[in-house]
Amino acid sequence: MPEDFHELHIAGIVQETHDARSYILAVPESLREAFRYRAGQFLTFEVPWDGMRLHRCYSLSSAPETDPWLKVTVKRVDDGRISNWFNDSVKVGDSILVQPPEGRFVMRSNEGDHGIVLLGGGSGVTPVLSILKSALRTTTRDVKLIYANRDEHSIIFKGDIDLWLAEFPERLEVIHHLDSDSGLMSIGEVQEHIRGWEDGEFFVCGPTGYMDTVEEAFKAANIDAGQTKFERFISPIDPDRKDASAAVVPEQSDDEIPESFKMLLEGQSHEVPYEKGLTLLASAVKAGHKPPSSCEDGYCGCCMALLKSGEVNMATHDALEPSDIERGWVLACQARPALRRRVLGSLGHGCYFPGRRQAMTSIGVGASAPDFTKTTQNGDTISLSQFRGEKTVVLYFYPKDETPGCTVEACTFRDSFEDFVEAGAVVIGVSQDSEKSHKSFAIHHRLPFLLVSDRDKALQKAYGVPKTMGLLPGRVTYVIDRDGTVQHVFNSQLNAKKHVREALDVVKQLAA
Ligand SMILES: Cc1cc2nc3c(=O)[nH]c(=O)nc-3n(C[C@H](O)[C@H](O)[C@H](O)COP(=O)(O)OP(=O)(O)OC[C@H]3O[C@@H](n4cnc5c(N)ncnc54)[C@H](O)[C@@H]3O)c2cc1C
Ligand code: FES
Repeated sequence: MPEDFHELHIAGIVQETHDARSYILAVPESLREAFRYRAGQFLTFEVPWDGMRLHRCYSLSSAPETDPWLKVTVKRVDDGRISNWFNDSVKVGDSILVQPPEGRFVMRSNEGDHGIVLLGGGSGVTPVLSILKSALRTTTRDVKLIYANRDEHSIIFKGDIDLWLAEFPERLEVIHHLDSDSGLMSIGEVQEHIRGWEDGEFFVCGPTGYMDTVEEAFKAANIDAGQTKFERFISPIDPDRKDASAAVVPEQSDDEIPESFKMLLEGQSHEVPYEKGLTLLASAVKAGHKPPSSCEDGYCGCCMALLKSGEVNMATHDALEPSDIERGWVLACQARPALRRRVLGSLGHGCYFPGRRQAMTSIGVGASAPDFTKTTQNGDTISLSQFRGEKTVVLYFYPKDETPGCTVEACTFRDSFEDFVEAGAVVIGVSQDSEKSHKSFAIHHRLPFLLVSDRDKALQKAYGVPKTMGLLPGRVTYVIDRDGTVQHVFNSQLNAKKHVREALDVVKQLAA
């Protein structure tokens, strides 16, 4: 388990139902970046218990775009240790050890306007509520929540859900299923509820039996595994019972064991010595590296690694979907080499780590900004050098016109446009979209600033703008002073509004 636990204070507690409470966490300014998150992610808590340090994950029921605080919701489990400790003993003002947010149970950004179907059972509603809020607030996608509970008194967030329904009656549909009325939800009922939403993106979280029913219904409805995500609410094996789990580890014969394997981590290649019995993750940690990981029990998916060659065996792989395995993804915390042939893994590429794994841009503060000549949405040609000695330039690279994050960012620049002008700055947006696309984006959102088209990616390359997760074009903002020197760089795919706030602060300082 990585050592990145931080002490946070409990700022508030909400009694949601008779057996579930929400805990609001105060995050100090110095940890804001580390605790940035995406809707659907979870926090890992460390709690001293009976001479051990137990780890428990709790999904964030808050959403970054709608709640100013981080909130988790813990439901009592019969004879469960930490869930009952939370509900009985944790008080406002207590401090608790927490690891920054992680998890892959998040919306894909390239799903266009496909609907989102959320299936939550009991406390499994927490991550799906977070996704519901984020989707309604930041996208135009329709959302359907299918929410199963034992009885009326067990429904967590009933009031919140009603408020969202009132605000988005056209886009949100909610089905409440109560076991007390009609027994456990059946495969046929799930099929009925998802009819008409077959091309959507599906998120499922709930007790094991509920998840199994939903999985069967997906099979019957021919829902592709690539459209679905499952979050399993399980506790890790106690540290003192770990040895028992070793019994399920596949045998390795001596002639299968490589002396080392090659690992790519954050763009660097490392030769990692290998010892019989260790996982790829344990070997990497032993060699002094810090690859991403969390549960180390095969269910959170944070250690996903792409196997480029060689073979491994995994004791468990709950976090992987069949399509992940087909594409060569393995869990580094579970994977042990299966053949003497060298294993070449690429660790950490499957996980998004807010604030912790941002690639660096190659043009940094103090560098001379590369000049360029490009065409704007109005068909005019502009170059950076024309502003030399005259204006501060805010050059912001973004992934794609009309996508939710880019629309938020562009509209935030629009809303602060007068402040930028007053401080003597011009704002220029850059993406690979065509001039035509820029024109309609600008008209649609009344954008008063320039957008330039970088179809050949020359500008992106000149500034060394990195891709996010090796896939999405990066979101990076540069503030360039009147002498053509870069004074500020901000690189974050998610925090679109912060790009504007930070740029404006720097522009104002330069003007002062
Ligand atoms: C990604 C993720 C997100 C999660 N999000 C949430 C959330 O938002 N809200 C929420 O309420 N929960 C959530 N969980 C579940 C949570 O992490 C805990 O698993 C849950 O609270 C139970 O923990 P516990 O310590 O109370 O129970 P445990 O002490 O782990 O016990 C769990 C069960 O195992 C039995 N048990 C315990 N010890 C033993 C033993 N030695 N031998 C046999 N049986 C035993 C207990 O009787 C009990 O039934 C999440 C889990 C994951 C992985
Ligand atoms: S660290 Fe959680 S699956 Fe490997």
